[in-house]
Amino acid sequence: MPITTTVITGATSGIGKETALALAKKGHALYLLVRDMDKGEETKQELINLSKNNNIYLVFCDLADMDSIRNAVGILKSSLFSINVLINNAGGIFAQRQVTRDGFEMTFAVNYLGHFLLTHLLMPLLEKGQARVINVSSDAHRMGKAQFKDLQWETATYSPLKAYAMAKLFNIYFTRSIAVKYGPKGVTSFALHPGVVNTNFGEGLSGSSRMWLWLARPFMITAEQGAQGVVYLATGSRIDAKSGKYFKDGKVHSPSARATDDDARKKLWEMSLEMIEPLV
Ligand SMILES: NC(=O)c1ccc[n+]([C@@H]2O[C@H](COP(=O)([O-])OP(=O)(O)OC[C@H]3O[C@@H](n4cnc5c(N)ncnc54)[C@H](OP(=O)(O)O)[C@@H]3O)[C@@H](O)[C@H]2O)c1
Repeated sequence: MPITTTVITGATSGIGKETALALAKKGHALYLLVRDMDKGEETKQELINLSKNNNIYLVFCDLADMDSIRNAVGILKSSLFSINVLINNAGGIFAQRQVTRDGFEMTFAVNYLGHFLLTHLLMPLLEKGQARVINVSSDAHRMGKAQFKDLQWETATYSPLKAYAMAKLFNIYFTRSIAVKYGPKGVTSFALHPGVVNTNFGEGLSGSSRMWLWLARPFMITAEQGAQGVVYLATGSRIDAKSGKYFKDGKVHSPSARATDDDARKKLWEMSLEMIEPLV
């Protein structure tokens, strides 16, 4: 049987790490896109030891830096003919508004636009691999509004939760757009809510948000449980007909009404293309 080649972001912690471990045990060739090479090396060794799979590689990729994403794609293109699974998992929530060196608000860049650029540049390899693109979204998208006039939170008062919710809403638009645009070329795409998972997520929060998170931790599911939905989408059979959909607990779920707004979805796609145009 041919080996499945999987590229994953955010595999140095939480849901991504447990997903990588499960896929390594299933024999995937894994390319871990990491922003911290020391932490990446530790993760890689841990995955190799636990899975006995040596087919695991590290590529430096900081999703908050568009040049770094382009360089990572260059490395992948020089090493791979095709990719079968792309898991856009890395993400975060930030207490204060921060701006990346490319001028994008951090939540928007890391959770959404960085993955948009990555997927866009990898598309030739994804088409060759008849790939699945999995976008780790969140039920927090239900609080999200697409504020197209102020995507970078320059005028609106920045709220960590609102910025995060908007970015996770954009993961769902993105998923549907990939399904519509690249479905005819054999690429499918899925979004999911992994559950409320006890990981490093939210470590950067402060004040009452941090306290609520701390209080909720004992009730959260483990990272291993949170990874199950991602692993299902990466490996499950007969799910291609559900391309473009939003999943929870291994089943299709209705996202918010806003997440099904096709005009907003198309607008986001056009605006994202404009934003990355100088970078491609
Ligand atoms: N935990 C939950 O309850 C929950 C619920 C719904 C959705 N999600 C989503 O699940 C995904 C995984 O989150 P998690 O809970 O596993 O959180 P986590 O433990 O904090 O892991 C986040 C991962 O993203 C990586 N990352 C962050 N910023 C990055 C950047 N600029 N460039 C490259 N990688 C970066 C981190 O790398 P480092 O190790 O270097 O920090 C880490 O590997 C996220 O998209 C999150 O929004 C989580």
